[in-house]
Amino acid sequence: MSEVVAMTKKAILLAGGAGSRLFPLTRIVCKQLLPIYDKPMICYPLATLMLGGLREILVISTPKDLPVLRNFLGDGTHLGIKLDYAEQPKPEGIAQAFLIGAKFVEDRGVSLILGDNIFYGKLDFFREALALKRGACVFGYQVRDPVYVYDERVVEFCRALKPSARGEIEITDLNRRYLEDGELQVKRLGRGIAWLDTGTPTSLLEASNYIATIEHRQGMKIACLEEIALRMGFIRAAELSSLIDRLPKGDYRDYLQRVADEGPIPH
Ligand code: TTP
Repeated sequence: MSEVVAMTKKAILLAGGAGSRLFPLTRIVCKQLLPIYDKPMICYPLATLMLGGLREILVISTPKDLPVLRNFLGDGTHLGIKLDYAEQPKPEGIAQAFLIGAKFVEDRGVSLILGDNIFYGKLDFFREALALKRGACVFGYQVRDPVYVYDERVVEFCRALKPSARGEIEITDLNRRYLEDGELQVKRLGRGIAWLDTGTPTSLLEASNYIATIEHRQGMKIACLEEIALRMGFIRAAELSSLIDRLPKGDYRDYLQRVADEGPIPH
């Protein structure tokens, strides 16, 4: 039986895809770097992982977008996390991420989050998943479950899957495998969690408006990665200060300076 903690220590952030519903926005620009109000989209799922205590993360994206994402996020050292990168040559399914990341997953199990999903609220799902010793757990509302946690058999199970009629390694087929073994837990996210979609121009705008409203009203930033790194103890106050020194003057820098002076806003 796998170790409880080892099972959820690593995560894959899947940030590829075609982004066809956002065309022409995505003709040149990576979907996951499009702005959600005041920061790129990928900051939000990455923040979710960091708040869950996950610090070893594999970012998977297209050959075109991966270098840009790497340029933006780096190796994670500045946030006290470890980021690795891998290419998905074609969008051949969400579950293909486990085949691409087989070496990264090793024999330890892994969580997966989609790079275009935004959560806001009390995000306890990774803590809940810590209670899971074996099997798989999916968290969501309906239709698509955007956060997944699997034990160390995930790669082996994916290798046995055949592509579907649409040519994708389907996450639903992977989940069915766990279900057949009686080892799939499905958890509904509570009403206290906002789950925002970003797949269409309208949902992109709605997500931006939602984030802007809360940030303005409550005087805090959502998914400010440097603040989260400090709050989670991934970096120290002195490290935050040297990060701030390297930022351009503006609202983001002013906010982080306030965090440095007063400490992060309580969660
Ligand atoms: P989707 O929303 O299904 O696809 P998409 O983002 O490419 O958009 P569209 O449907 O408009 O073409 O994908 C959800 C997330 O999963 C998104 O972050 C992209 C990612 N993804 C991959 O990285 N690789 C894949 O093979 C698939 C299917 C999705």
